[in-house]
This record gives sequence, C-alpha cells and structure tokens, in this order.
Amino acid sequence: METKPTFYSTSVGKKVVMAASGFIVFGFVVVHILGNLQLFLGADALNQYAAFLQGLGPVKWTVRVLLALSVLVHMVSATQVTLQSWAARPEKYAVQRFQETTYAARTMRVGGPIIGLFVIYHLMHFTTGHCHPVKDGFVENSEGMLNVYNNVVFGFQDPLASVVYIVTMIFIGLHLYHGLWSMMQSVGLNHKKYNHWRKVFAVLFALFVAGAGISLPVAVLSGWVVPV
Ligand code: HEM
Repeated sequence: METKPTFYSTSVGKKVVMAASGFIVFGFVVVHILGNLQLFLGADALNQYAAFLQGLGPVKWTVRVLLALSVLVHMVSATQVTLQSWAARPEKYAVQRFQETTYAARTMRVGGPIIGLFVIYHLMHFTTGHCHPVKDGFVENSEGMLNVYNNVVFGFQDPLASVVYIVTMIFIGLHLYHGLWSMMQSVGLNHKKYNHWRKVFAVLFALFVAGAGISLPVAVLSGWVVPV
C-alpha cells in the first residue's frame, strides 16, 4: 500500500523548511554584524553592548538553543534537497549547462559548508579564545569583564584571521543574496513586474551586510581602529 507523502517528504516542503530556518539564522547574522559595527563607536560602546548581551541570562540561552536548532535543521534540509536533486538527475550532462542560474546560486552548496566551518573557527577565535590567541591573551578589563573591543581589534590585527573573515563575508553575501531571492519567490513574490526590484533589494541587502562585515577587519588592518 502506498503511503501518502508528508509535507516534508516533498521537495517543496523541504525548501520551505530550509527557507524558514535560513531566515532565523540570517536574522541573527545580520543583527550580529550590525551590532559589531559599534566597533567604530569605540571600546565603551562595544563593551557595554557585549555586557548587555551576556547579562541576558535565560533569554541568551533561549536564542542560542533556537539558533543551534535552526542551523541543524537548515543543514539537514539543504543536504536532503541536494541529494534529492542529484537523485533526480543521475547522469551528469556531458557539458554542464547553467540555465536560469546565477553565480550566487551555484555557490550555495559550497558556501553553506564554508560558512559552517567558519562559525566553528569564529567561536574558537572570539568566544573561547582557543584559535590563534592574540599576543595579550584573551583580554579582560580592570573589573575582570571581557574587553570584547580589544579582543576583536587584536584578533583582526592578524592578517590571516582578517583574510578568513573577509573571504567568508563574500560567501555570506552570495548566500544571503541567493537565499533572499529564493525565499521571496517561495512566498509568492514572483511577478514579472516586480522581479527586477526583488533582485535589486536582494543585491543591496547582501552588499550592505557583507560590506559591513568586511569593513571591520579592514578598519583594523588599515590602522583606523586601534586597541585602547
Ligand atoms: C566581522 C564579522 C564579525 C565579528 C566582528 C564578530 C564578532 C563576534 C564576537 C566578538 C563574539 C563574542 C562576543 C562575546 O563573547 O561577548 C561573537 C560571537 C558569535 N558570533 Fe560573531 N562576529 C562576526 C561575524 C559572525 C558571523 C558571520 C557569524 C555566523 C555566520 C557569527 C556568529 C557568531 C556566534 C554564533 C557567536 C556566539 C554567540 C553567543 O555567545 O551566543 N559571527 N562574534
């Protein structure tokens, strides 16, 4: 007896789950990068912001759990969509043709794992301090509070670390651009009249977020932002 397909077993179902979980993860990334722009306002602004977030207690842990679950769901659904599309096309075309697809769309499957690896590196860099610790160690201020401002500045003074962030930001921009574009299509924003504006919005948004992320290591490497 044939069983009725569930919503998730269909390719559309998986894509909706992928879009919803991606929305939550990118919501965090966008707010996080914009929050970090306070580096330009100076040590007090960034450190007070970090202390405020650290002091959120149960709210902070709720967000962390929601985020971890969303990352997991996003990775599982994206892997399943990829495997499903490979299974539907077992023979590789002799000549690969890219129809109705963009450079950003083709980098999604490479970009996803790269961003995932970056997050592990990033947590070991700025949260636990295990990854190439900076010359002054994991800096605390006189009250024993983490000096997030100096940690970030010392962190980006290492050109290799800065390059890793800059390259990842390019992948984040591409992932965000294509993700936004696809998500808007999934929720029905697909009309000849508006498609141009959908693209313009996705490009500008992705450029803004990636540009904001890149501006931080560049500001430190260029000597504009210095430790206090
Ligand atoms: C230039 C860009 C970025 C900077 C300067 C930055 C900076 C930081 C810093 C300083 C922390 C530790 C905060 C603290 O201990 O109080 C942190 C935590 C974190 N960052 Fe970033 N970050 C950047 C980009 C990203 C990106 C692109 C992602 C994800 C794709 C990300 C994900 C996280 C996560 C998950 C945490 C842990 C949050 C928690 O403790 O709950 N960050 N970041």
